[in-house]
Amino acid sequence: MIRSVVRGFGAALPKRVVTNAEMEGMVETSDEWIVQRTGIKQRYIAGEGETTASLGEAAARAALERAGLTADDIDLVIVATSTPDNTFPATAVNIQHRLGMTKGYAFDVQAVCTGFVYAMATADAHLRAGLARRALVIGAETFSRILDWNDRTTCVLFGDGAGALVIEAQEGEGAISDRGVLTAHLRSDGSHKDKLYVDGGVSSTGTVGHLRMEGREVFKYAVGMITDVIEAAFEATGTTAETLDWLVPHQANRRIIDGSAKKLGIPGEKVVVTVDMHGNTSAASIPLALSVAAGDGRIKQGDLVMLEAMGGGFTWGALLVRW
Ligand code: ACO
Repeated sequence: MIRSVVRGFGAALPKRVVTNAEMEGMVETSDEWIVQRTGIKQRYIAGEGETTASLGEAAARAALERAGLTADDIDLVIVATSTPDNTFPATAVNIQHRLGMTKGYAFDVQAVCTGFVYAMATADAHLRAGLARRALVIGAETFSRILDWNDRTTCVLFGDGAGALVIEAQEGEGAISDRGVLTAHLRSDGSHKDKLYVDGGVSSTGTVGHLRMEGREVFKYAVGMITDVIEAAFEATGTTAETLDWLVPHQANRRIIDGSAKKLGIPGEKVVVTVDMHGNTSAASIPLALSVAAGDGRIKQGDLVMLEAMGGGFTWGALLVRW
């Protein structure tokens, strides 16, 4: 059976780092409050000329280089983003063009913070269906451009960045020992759409709008939803918290990450945490975290890695991959 195997990973961050100390100068907040409530110490904020497409392109180039491939070897680009450069065309076709690709197809996926899990599951389905052979799956965001910089309850939480994986269709045994994507579990429930949303849009206000969030409400649902889909992934594959090598969660908040891991019995040493460095970069956070942990040698070929996310919609999902 066809498996979607990870061949390369890459990341890109804006030049400018904004520390919590700098945030203290912008809104009524403190380093102590932010660290204690979220674990965030700094975030990267895009400057002039840095956009979702430029960050996504840089991450894609790094992933291609690590895979030892060129853009000519790719026939599918999927970008998970809620902050596209333009309403249309898709940021994915922009990146396809920037990479010099003249074949294949490209499109965006919009599932807010769960975007990368949705995009990986979609790319895996396309590879297994024979629609494409090699895909670039990118999570790229410039959330700084939809933040209300006067709202201390949201602006301290988010950052910008991009991460990318190159995945390739390879023949597997159909066993749990196969490399590649082993299972994906996606969920959404639109009845929660007003708890985390942007208060503008093309067809409603004709404006870009700003991010609005009922933080406590989001927190209330997060751990239960995350652990539910991870348990579904364990059940579908006969794997367990003990056999898992790494949990790479969406990096929204340290307390959500720790709470989920604890509930599942996954020890802290197996959890990749980058929220301290990057803040919440929405769809970019998982591929950014993967790039850090695979780049420093923690995640190795053959490791069993669980990706999970929850975000606006609500959307949530988990994807198990053998690296
Ligand atoms: N600095 C200082 N004080 C603040 C700040 C700030 N940046 N923001 C809010 N406060 C104040 C509030 O005004 C409130 O003051 P009050 O008691 O005088 O009214 C107090 O701090 C407590 O506010 P709460 O909102 O109750 O704080 P809470 O402990 O719930 O923490 C937080 C807020 C961090 C947003 C939390 O609710 C949370 O983690 N929610 C999850 C949401 C999340 O992570 N979303 C990310 C996007 S969704 C996703 O990716 C899953």
